[in-house]
Amino acid sequence: MTRFICTANHGFAPYAMEELRRLLGQASFRMVVPGEVFELSAENGRDEILAQIRQAEPIFLRHIQPVDFARPIAGGPGDLAALADIVRGTPDRFAGKRTAVHIRRKEGSPFAYPAAEAKAAADAALREAGAEPAQQSPDLILSVFATDSELLIGWGTADEMLSDWPGGAIRFRREDGQISRAKFKLLEAERTFGLRLDAHERALDIGAAPGGWTSLLLERGLDVTAIDPADLHPSLVGHPRVTWLKRNAGEVSFPPGTFDLLVCDMSWDPATMAKLVLRLSPSLKSGAEAVVTVKLLHRKPMQTIRNVTEQLAQAFDIRRAKQLFHNRDEITLYLIYRGA
Ligand SMILES: C[S@@+](CC[C@H](N)C(=O)[O-])C[C@H]1O[C@@H](n2cnc3c(N)ncnc32)[C@H](O)[C@@H]1O
Repeated sequence: MTRFICTANHGFAPYAMEELRRLLGQASFRMVVPGEVFELSAENGRDEILAQIRQAEPIFLRHIQPVDFARPIAGGPGDLAALADIVRGTPDRFAGKRTAVHIRRKEGSPFAYPAAEAKAAADAALREAGAEPAQQSPDLILSVFATDSELLIGWGTADEMLSDWPGGAIRFRREDGQISRAKFKLLEAERTFGLRLDAHERALDIGAAPGGWTSLLLERGLDVTAIDPADLHPSLVGHPRVTWLKRNAGEVSFPPGTFDLLVCDMSWDPATMAKLVLRLSPSLKSGAEAVVTVKLLHRKPMQTIRNVTEQLAQAFDIRRAKQLFHNRDEITLYLIYRGA
C-alpha cells in the first residue's frame, strides 16, 4: 500500500479525488484538512502512481507528496531527531543532490517546531548525507507534512510533486503600484504552462479591466488591445502600446490574423465566454496561444469544464486545463488556435 498527501485549492479536494479515482481506479481517500488536503492510498507502487499522474495531470490536484516514511508525533525534540535520522539513514537518496526542504503542518498539529527550525534540522542532516541544501531549482525536494498524529515524510522532484513550492502554494511578490491581484494568475500561468509571453507581439486582452494582465503583457514587451466596458487603471489609459476599446467583447471585431496571443479573464458564464472567444478567434494568427479563465459558477465543475472545452475545441487545441493556486472559483485553460 502506498500513501500520498495531496493538496487542492480550498473546497476543491473532492474534485481532485474524483479525478484521481477515475485515473487510478483502485484508490482510497481520507480528508486531512477539510476541503483542501487529503491522503491517497493505493495498491500500485509510488513511482507508477507518480508517473500516471504526470501523464494525465488532474485539473484540481495542486500538489502531491509521496509518504516514504511515517512517524508518530511525540510532540517533543524526538520528532526532529526522527526526521534527521530518516535523512541520514537514506544517504543514497540525497548524496550529491541539491535538495530543498518543504515543511507543512496541519493547524493544531502537535508537531511543535516552527517550519524554519525543522528546516534547519533537516538541512543539517542533508549535509551529513552529502546533499547540498538548495531553495531554487532543486534536484530533489524533501517534503514533510505534520498531521494530528503523524509526521509524513517523502521526497521527489518538483515535476513529480507538480510544483516546486510547498503544497503548490506559489507566491509572487506584490509590487508597488500593482494594478490587480489578478496579475498573479497570468504570472502563474506563464510559469506553470511554460509560456514565452515575450515571444509574442500583439495580444488581445478580453475582460481586461482594471488591467493587471495588460500590465504584465506590456512588461513582456507586447502591444495590447484591451477590451472592457469597465475602466482601465489610469496608468494604462493613453499608454502608447495599449489600445483600449471600452466595449463589450460581443461588439468588437478585428481583421483576420491581427493577434498572436489571446488572453481572457472575463467575469462571465463559461458558455458565453467560450462563444465570445470563438467569435473573436479569426482575429488570431494560426498557432496563436491563448490563456483563458473558466469561472466555475455552478456546482458541477467537471461538467462545466467538459462543456466549455468541447466548445473551444471547435477552433483550439486544448493543451492544459489547471486550477492554479491563484485561481479562486475558476480554472485556467492554455490553448493553441488551429487557424481559420
Ligand atoms: C476579473 S476582471 C479581469 C481582471 C483583469 N484580468 C486584471 O488583471 O485586472 C473581469 C472583467 O471582465 C469584464 N467583462 C465582463 N463581461 C465582459 C464582456 N462581455 N466584454 C468585455 N469585458 C467583460 C468585467 O468588466 C471585468 O472588468
